[in-house]
Amino acid sequence: MSRSDDRAPAAHGAPEVRAEIRIRRTDGSRSVFSVDAGEYTTILDALEEIRTVHDRSLLYRHSCHHGSCGTCGVIANGERVLACTTRITSDEPLDLDPLAPFPVIGDLAVDATPLYADFPTDASYLRDSDARPNATDPVAPEEVGRFTRFENCIECGICVSVCPVVRPFKGPAALAAYGREIEKRPDREAELLAEIDAPDGVAGCDRALNCSAACPLGVYPAKHIAVLKRKIDARRADYSP
Ligand code: FES
Repeated sequence: MSRSDDRAPAAHGAPEVRAEIRIRRTDGSRSVFSVDAGEYTTILDALEEIRTVHDRSLLYRHSCHHGSCGTCGVIANGERVLACTTRITSDEPLDLDPLAPFPVIGDLAVDATPLYADFPTDASYLRDSDARPNATDPVAPEEVGRFTRFENCIECGICVSVCPVVRPFKGPAALAAYGREIEKRPDREAELLAEIDAPDGVAGCDRALNCSAACPLGVYPAKHIAVLKRKIDARRADYSP
């Protein structure tokens, strides 16, 4: 374990706490740093100060700094959070670990490729309003809200990280993406439901609801998995003799 006590000026207002940040490194050790944290200092702010002032070798992921890109997920004292929107409010030691179960590239940086492995193929990432069943009709206010909820997903992987299912399972992020794609492209519903009507699809969900509780954007993947299950059950009923 290495330790740095070099003090650096607090960049986010007057320091309110002197935080001890304990970061899991690639080799399994923890490096410990002390950082002044003001009222608005986030975990990502602290990581950037550590990398700028104390340790240029520190690896972590980030891009937007405002909860939109989904790249900065970490485990902070056992809780899955976005580093850029989580403030440091205590001088209690803060243990930071990479977002399991994703493969570690280095320190807190993970390879998010597995997150996308089971997303529907040819999924569109922008909602095409012309794909609505009656595209010439204006979108009712309540319909806009329904689409917005799906679109909130930033693909951060936190829902997958907290899901307790260990057997083959497409996972909450991919299934929410299926739900999103069906909302956008009703013409693909039968095709997409067939892909997730499998042991590793909707049936693989244990309804632990961890995903909905942990999602930082309020996407509630478990709710959407339940909607998909109802669609699959209805589809089966239609085909039963
Ligand atoms: S840096 Fe983009 S979500 Fe945190």
